[in-house]
Amino acid sequence: MPSILITGVSSGIGRASAIRFRDAGWVVIGTSRNPAEEKDAVPGVALEFLDLAEEGSATALGARVLAEYGCPDVLLNNAGMLTFGALEAISPADLQRLYQVNTFGQLELIQALLPAMRARGSGVIANVTSLGGTLVFPFFAPYNSTKWAMEALSEGLWHELKAFGIRVKAIEPGFVETDIWDKALPEKDSELSGPPDYRPYLRRMLEYETSIKKRSSPEETAEEVFQAVTDDSDRLRYPVAAYASRLVKARRWLGAQRMMGFLHGRWLG
Ligand SMILES: NC(=O)c1ccc[n+]([C@@H]2O[C@H](COP(=O)([O-])OP(=O)(O)OC[C@H]3O[C@@H](n4cnc5c(N)ncnc54)[C@H](OP(=O)(O)O)[C@@H]3O)[C@@H](O)[C@H]2O)c1
Repeated sequence: MPSILITGVSSGIGRASAIRFRDAGWVVIGTSRNPAEEKDAVPGVALEFLDLAEEGSATALGARVLAEYGCPDVLLNNAGMLTFGALEAISPADLQRLYQVNTFGQLELIQALLPAMRARGSGVIANVTSLGGTLVFPFFAPYNSTKWAMEALSEGLWHELKAFGIRVKAIEPGFVETDIWDKALPEKDSELSGPPDYRPYLRRMLEYETSIKKRSSPEETAEEVFQAVTDDSDRLRYPVAAYASRLVKARRWLGAQRMMGFLHGRWLG
C-alpha cells in the first residue's frame, strides 16, 4: 500500500486530502498541533504532532515518521497560515513566524525525509503553494512572498532531485472555502491593522475578497491534489481550485506588468 504524510489535517484541504487518500487505500499519516484532542478527527489516519512555528518540530516529526512508519512515498506539505495587512505595519516577529510556518518549517520537513527518499530512489514531494505564489495580492504580500519562496524551492528541488527518482509538485490553489480566511481576515473595521491612511484600501481589498462567491470546496481541491500527486508525470506546477488556472493563463497572456495594472484597477483603483 502506498503511504503519504500530510501536514495540517485538522481542517480544510489537508483534512479532505487525508480522507481522499485514505479512501483510495493509502496509508495516511497526518499532523496536527493537537493530536490528542483531534485523534478521531479523520478516522483511519494516524496523527502525529507538528507545530511548524517551532524550529526543530518538523525535523523531529520526520525522524519519528521514519522510525515508526518508514519513509512515506509522498510528502504533502499542506499546513500553512495566512495574514492580511499593510506591509508598512508588519512586525519582524510576525514576518518571521509566517516564514517559519510557511517556508522554513516546510523545507525542514523536506530535508528530514530526503535522505531516506534518495536512498530508496523514489518519492513525491508535493508543496501546497498558492495562486498567490504566482501573483501578488495587495495586503497579502507577506503571505504571498512565503509562497513565492516555496515555488522557487520547489523548482530548485525539481532539478536537484530528478536524478534520484524523486518528483516534485507545486500545487497552487486559487480560492477554496476553508477556515484559513476567517482565521486571518479582520471581522471589524477596528481590527484593520496599519496606519489609518491605509484603511480605505484595506476595506476595498476585503470587500473584493468577500465578494468572491465561487470557491472550490476542500473536497474538490483534494481530488485535484490526488490527481496531481498520482499522475506519474514529472510536471511541476498545478494550478487547482477556483480561478487559479484562469488567472495563471491571463497573466501569461497579458504579461506580468499589464496583469498588475488590470488587477490593481479592479482591487484598489
Ligand atoms: N483556502 C484557500 O483558498 C487557499 C488558497 C491557496 C493556498 N492555500 C494553502 O492551502 C494550505 C491549506 O490551507 P487551508 O485553506 O486548508 O486552511 P486551513 O483549513 O486553515 O488549514 C490549515 C492547516 O494548517 C495547519 N497549521 C496552521 N498553522 C500551523 C502550524 N504552526 N503548525 C502546524 N500546522 C499548522 C492548521 O492546523 P490548526 O487547526 O492547528 O490551525 C490546519 O490543519 C495552506 O498552505 C494554504 O496556504 C489555501
